[in-house]
Amino acid sequence: MRVVSGIQPTGNLHLGNYLGAIRNWVRMQDGMEDGNLCLFFLADLHAISQPHDPIELKKGTLEMAAALVACGIDPHKSVVFNQAQVPAHAELQWLLNGTARIGWLNRMTQWKDKAGKNREGQSVALFSYPVLQAADVLLYQTTHVPVGEDQKQHLELARDIAQKFNNDFASEEAPVFTLPEPIVPPQAARIMSLRNGDAKMSKSDPSDMSRINLADDADTIMKKVKKAKTDPEPLPSEAGGLEGRPEALNLVTIYAALSDRSVDDILGEFGGEGFGTFKPALGELLVETLRPISTRFVQLLDDREALDAILARGAAQARELSRPTLDATYSALGLVR
Ligand code: TRP
Repeated sequence: MRVVSGIQPTGNLHLGNYLGAIRNWVRMQDGMEDGNLCLFFLADLHAISQPHDPIELKKGTLEMAAALVACGIDPHKSVVFNQAQVPAHAELQWLLNGTARIGWLNRMTQWKDKAGKNREGQSVALFSYPVLQAADVLLYQTTHVPVGEDQKQHLELARDIAQKFNNDFASEEAPVFTLPEPIVPPQAARIMSLRNGDAKMSKSDPSDMSRINLADDADTIMKKVKKAKTDPEPLPSEAGGLEGRPEALNLVTIYAALSDRSVDDILGEFGGEGFGTFKPALGELLVETLRPISTRFVQLLDDREALDAILARGAAQARELSRPTLDATYSALGLVR
């Protein structure tokens, strides 16, 4: 098993990122058997596909690297790096641009959503974003890619590119690329804003009260939970009773995800109680879970040398691991080097 996944270095990791993706990565890492390997990287090359601020990108990349390690991605077990230090990603993307079809990219829903009505005004990088993502994965003979539901289409595209390349340029006995499988975690918790149960928790929400940041201290977390939007009803004793109550559902979902229990199980305990009881319990659980993470996060951000060393080492390993596939790709295409 070879596991590869990437995350955009937006900085300011929050509870939604943690429960939605990172915790799942940590579990995959910790469940790896000998001989299997996980690579987790910061998709900084992807970040330039839309208007961005270079200072923010640098800060976001370092913050996200610190956050991954603080959350339990162990650089001695997994390969942790940023794309910009592994030129093979950009190289393989170019080589795959010869295989990817414009028609395939035109059908990507993320492209359509992000470009909206102004396709002509978008960068070429935004259009070919999925080809870079395919390169990220194909470069390492990846077998499994943990992603959210919204990334399944990009993984399908990576498989199509791999298949066409193998068909066009390799023999059946010696394919250049492995076809990767997406793994969408079944219980990936969808964490919503604390101010609006219909909007995803997001770092771009202008209100900081809408999210729990991994760097928030205990008082801040408590305050945010106590001020979270709710309704006046007590909690029901079964999940069905939360229908039409998105804010209540969100708080119970967070509690369930943090304690690795089901929503029904939590409601079995808190059913009939009001938020005056539930919120302090949730706040304490959050504080307890996040304390070791935020402590380590702040420490790492303070030690730039240690952080640079982690990324440099990961990048060196990634460059090494990428070499055979990159060489095979050049060679299959008849490029003289
Ligand atoms: N596009 C992914 C996202 O926005 C991030 C990403 C980039 C990625 N390259 C990847 C995820 C390769 C998995 C594998 O979430």
